[in-house]
Amino acid sequence: MKGLILSGGKGTRLYPLTYTSAKQLIPVANKPVLFRVIESIRDAGISEIGIVVGDTAEEVRDAVGRGGRWGVNITYIQQDAPLGLAHAVKISSNFLDNDRFVMFLGDNVIEGGISQLISEFAHSDWNSQIVLTRVDHPERYGVAELDDDGKINRLVEKPKNPQSDLALVGIYMFDASVLEAVHAIKPSWRGELEITDAIQWLVDHGNSVHPYIHRGWWIDTGEPGQMLEANDLVLEELDYQIEGYVDRDSKVGRRVTVEQGAEIINSVVRGPAIIGQDTRVVNSYIGPFTSIYHHVTIEDSEIEHSVVLEYSHIKGIGARIQDSLIGRYVSIERSPIKPKSHKMTIGDHSQVGIL
Ligand code: TTP
Repeated sequence: MKGLILSGGKGTRLYPLTYTSAKQLIPVANKPVLFRVIESIRDAGISEIGIVVGDTAEEVRDAVGRGGRWGVNITYIQQDAPLGLAHAVKISSNFLDNDRFVMFLGDNVIEGGISQLISEFAHSDWNSQIVLTRVDHPERYGVAELDDDGKINRLVEKPKNPQSDLALVGIYMFDASVLEAVHAIKPSWRGELEITDAIQWLVDHGNSVHPYIHRGWWIDTGEPGQMLEANDLVLEELDYQIEGYVDRDSKVGRRVTVEQGAEIINSVVRGPAIIGQDTRVVNSYIGPFTSIYHHVTIEDSEIEHSVVLEYSHIKGIGARIQDSLIGRYVSIERSPIKPKSHKMTIGDHSQVGIL
């Protein structure tokens, strides 16, 4: 069995963070989402993994390499344009070589326990297995309608009047029959080869597509709010440890990780929270559900329920920063220069809330 991870796409909903960089590399609890996906596949006993890449190919390659860190072998598959999930399968046919495979969307985070499911499929005689979960707004997802026996009737992409609340989670398992399907289907109205159409083709042509209903949480991290939600859920599950330095004037809660080389000076950190490698927190308050990535400085400031990416600096901010997703190399400081005013250099599509 092989693994196929989709890490191309445009990531427009996470602009400006994803203008120039891959959304799959944004960390959740200080680990890129893509790394979590690789680990899930590796934990299912799969060592041959293909990663479909697009415009951000170089960044993904630099971050992931050849897979030695996880004991897996990575092959990169270039997709010239994000023409759909089924298109990504189509261009991967050489790599897949008619083997059974699991396809994972590289920006999805799912509660543990999925590895068992993947290895079960490896030994089954189903042509496909799809993972479904109940959602509040089915109109935003690919939705599966099941019949009274629990078999799949129909799959609909973002239905206007959903007949079911079972959404397709970004994990799909297939055998070689899907290659026939992705060649047979036509692009949808949005110009993409849809994976829902390929699965529908399998159902219509008498293939066995087994629906599995996942009961834990699952987050598609496509939007900033979902990124923060995934961060909350993963922080809840983390094993905490203090490897960095905490001075005697600081108070660090039980559910806090302080990574190597990090320093907490005269500060309060309430968990669940994670402070990344070589990050400095000085005279500050870090509240629950906060992930501060590596090489960040937080000084004389308060922040909670937020994610801060690498090499950013936050200094002297009186009002608490909350519910925020702060990018790389960002500088937020109190300016001593008169007249008193807000001075900003902010990228396109940024969102700023001011007191
Ligand atoms: P989406 O979130 O559906 O698309 P996107 O990444 O282009 O994001 P946005 O809608 O914000 O512009 O993609 C799901 C995952 O699949 C994501 O990891 C990107 C990947 N993908 C590909 O690799 N190739 C594709 O053709 C598409 C559509 C997505």
